[in-house]
Order: sequence, then C-alpha cells, then structure tokens
Amino acid sequence: MKLGDRLSALAAMVPPGSRMADVGTDHAYLPLYLAEIGHIERAVAIDVNPGPFASARDAVLRASMADKIDVRLGNGLQVVTPNEVDVAVMAGMGGMTMIQIMETSPDVLQSLSRLVLQPMVGAPQVRRWLQTNGWRIIDETIVQDEGRLYEVLAAEPGQMEANELLEIGPILWQQRHPLLADLLKQRLYSLCFVLSQMEKSAAAQTNPKYQEQKAIISILEAKLACL
Ligand SMILES: C[S@@+](CC[C@H](N)C(=O)[O-])C[C@H]1O[C@@H](n2cnc3c(N)ncnc32)[C@H](O)[C@@H]1O
Repeated sequence: MKLGDRLSALAAMVPPGSRMADVGTDHAYLPLYLAEIGHIERAVAIDVNPGPFASARDAVLRASMADKIDVRLGNGLQVVTPNEVDVAVMAGMGGMTMIQIMETSPDVLQSLSRLVLQPMVGAPQVRRWLQTNGWRIIDETIVQDEGRLYEVLAAEPGQMEANELLEIGPILWQQRHPLLADLLKQRLYSLCFVLSQMEKSAAAQTNPKYQEQKAIISILEAKLACL
C-alpha cells in the first residue's frame, strides 16, 4: 500500500509503537498503512458516518488487520476510553470540527501524549486553541498534494507562547518552510476577498470581525515580505 504525500506527512508524525485513534478515518488508509509496516501497536479507526465506517471496516477485513485495527462507528473521541490510545490523528476535516471533538472528550484528550492534525480550514484557530488548552506544537509541515496545499501539525502536552506566529505556524516560520510563501499568498487572497465584501457594507465595517481581518492581513503581509 502506498500513501499520497498528505497522508505520508501525517504518518511521519505518528511515533513508532503508538496506539492511535484515527478520527474521521473514512477508508482507514492511514491506520492500515501504519499497521501493515508494523509502525503502530494498534489502532482504533473511527467514523461518524455509516458509509465511511463500512468502507473502513471492509478494508480492514480485506487486509486481515482486524486484530490490529478496531473500526468503530461514532462521533469523535466519544467511542474511545481514557488511556486506550496515546495518539489521536484528525485529518481532512475543518479546524472547528476538530476543536469541537477535542472539547467534547476532555478525559480522553488528557490521556493523550500526541495529537496529529491536518485541518482543511482554520489552522490558526486550531493553533490558538492548542495554546490556550495546554498543548505545544512540536512539528509542522506544508504538503502539496494534487495541486492543493495542506498544513499538518503535531502537538504534545506543554506550554507555547501566545503570539502572532500562531496565525502562520511557529515551526513553519522558524524553518522558513519552502511552501510558506505560497500558503500565505493563498490565505491573503481569501482574507482580502472577505474584507472587500465587508467594505461594501457600512454595517459590516462596524463589526469587530472587520478590524480583526485587517489585523490578520497586516501580520501576514509583514511576514510574507520577510520571506
Ligand atoms: C474527508 S474525510 C478524511 C478521511 C481521512 N482522515 C483523510 O484525511 O484522508 C473526513 C471524514 O471524517 C468523518 N467525520 C467528520 N466528522 C466526524 C466526527 N465528528 N467523528 C468522526 N468522524 C467524523 C467523515 O464522515 C469523513 O469520513
């Protein structure tokens, strides 16, 4: 089994010997790959929707991996007990969904030693949530897969500074990641579009979101100019 670049980046952030939960597993590609190469001890593959749950269950049965990968139908981490796994992966879903999943299962979250996350949107919100909830980003990367850019990050329990780099990615910035300029340009494009829509309405400009958007645009432009 061969993974694409996005899933490979996620796989690289799962420590060897992990007991992992793959939340929103869909076809269970990630746990299947990691179990097949003997990288993980075991996995719980979770999906909230019956279709993806059935795909995952069938794929695991076909690969004769049911002793290593337990496929469960359920919402987020609610179908996992505290200390059952040490790593949770959430990929291919929105950042706000991830935050909701983490907030719904504080006991499970507290028993984890690592989170591996790939939000489709809202990575800055996820980083800010991690910072205020006692998590420290220890690894980050940007992957280009089939023409699209994806942010992938790993966090462990700990402290990290609350500063403007949470908008960008503290490790992406520290490493001057080669795809960071492209990512910032993409984000600036959509933020400027939203701002231009707000500027059509006097009421929207009195909304605190308007000033917030402008402040984020200034941060991103300043950082982009340094790359
Ligand atoms: C786009 S797929 C991503 C699959 C895989 N994680 C990946 O990155 O390739 C998102 C999956 O998350 C599932 N999902 C969304 N919200 C969920 C939740 N709260 N709990 C469990 N699964 C969820 C969806 O049913 C869907 O199968």
